[in-house]
Amino acid sequence: MPLNKTTEVVSKPRITPEGKAQADSKAQQPRQVVSISRGRQRRHRVSDGVMNPLMWLDDDARRRQVETPPDETAFFGYERIRAREKTDRVVRHFNSVAQVYDFMNSLLSFGIHHAWKRESVRMLNLRPGEPHGRVVIYDINRAMIEAGLHKVQGGPLAGVIRHVQGDAEQISFPDQSFDAALVGFGIRNVTRMPLGFAEMHRVLKPGGQLMCLEFSRPVWPLFRWLYDAYSFYMMPFLGELIAGSRTAYTHLPESIRMFPLPDELADMLRGVGFSRVSYRRFTNGIAVAHLAVK
Ligand SMILES: C[S@@+](CC[C@H](N)C(=O)[O-])C[C@H]1O[C@@H](n2cnc3c(N)ncnc32)[C@H](O)[C@@H]1O
Repeated sequence: MPLNKTTEVVSKPRITPEGKAQADSKAQQPRQVVSISRGRQRRHRVSDGVMNPLMWLDDDARRRQVETPPDETAFFGYERIRAREKTDRVVRHFNSVAQVYDFMNSLLSFGIHHAWKRESVRMLNLRPGEPHGRVVIYDINRAMIEAGLHKVQGGPLAGVIRHVQGDAEQISFPDQSFDAALVGFGIRNVTRMPLGFAEMHRVLKPGGQLMCLEFSRPVWPLFRWLYDAYSFYMMPFLGELIAGSRTAYTHLPESIRMFPLPDELADMLRGVGFSRVSYRRFTNGIAVAHLAVK
């Protein structure tokens, strides 16, 4: 894997649900206030900016800090569910396909996904890091991480690549840690996409690049019709036959059709603070690579 340029990191305070809601609408950073605790200054993120520095939170405010608002919803494929349930559903979904994930990708895409990924990485124009480049593979699902370990272990990049299990909505690295961030077919699964992008923006150094590779809608109507037929008949059939899960491979085409179109995704990236946003379609737009700069 030619990604040999990366960075360093630290953990950050938990983002409140209110902060997440803000990220949804333009991904503003929650304002920070300083409160005094045991003689030390600590930074707290609050969404409304109205917080007495010496005050304990009341029951309601404490609960709101750790809960997703009950009325917040998200889509899991075509199904509208409560937002707080989506991440669990996504984790269970990938648990069920982790062992066959790569094989199914190659089968269903006739191997083309390798070319899309190679080309996306090439577009980042990465150069070797100084003195040693580092790469972090960050994924919420342990089974998916474990399924890919064999590609790294014992290889020349074993000392360069680290695996970290965590949620993209709360990346456990400090601000301005990385030169580049890549998300391949992952952002579609994140419950609050703008928040995921805002987190990637946060951990990038100024001038750092984001590459987002995702599925999208084919441009030519006839090709789209064929692709739709293939997606909703062939994919679930092969999913059941080979991966043992028709549901997982019904969710896949559904989630693709719920995903923002390229211009909409470009607007979302600009909304969280990225600039110089551009995109390139692959295979008539089945996949699209967005490139953006912090
Ligand atoms: C479709 S797979 C893509 C895997 C790989 N990047 C590829 O291109 O083949 C989506 C991946 O995103 C991960 N994922 C989903 N939601 C996530 C989240 N909130 N935070 C981090 N990873 C997440 C899943 O566990 C899964 O491994």
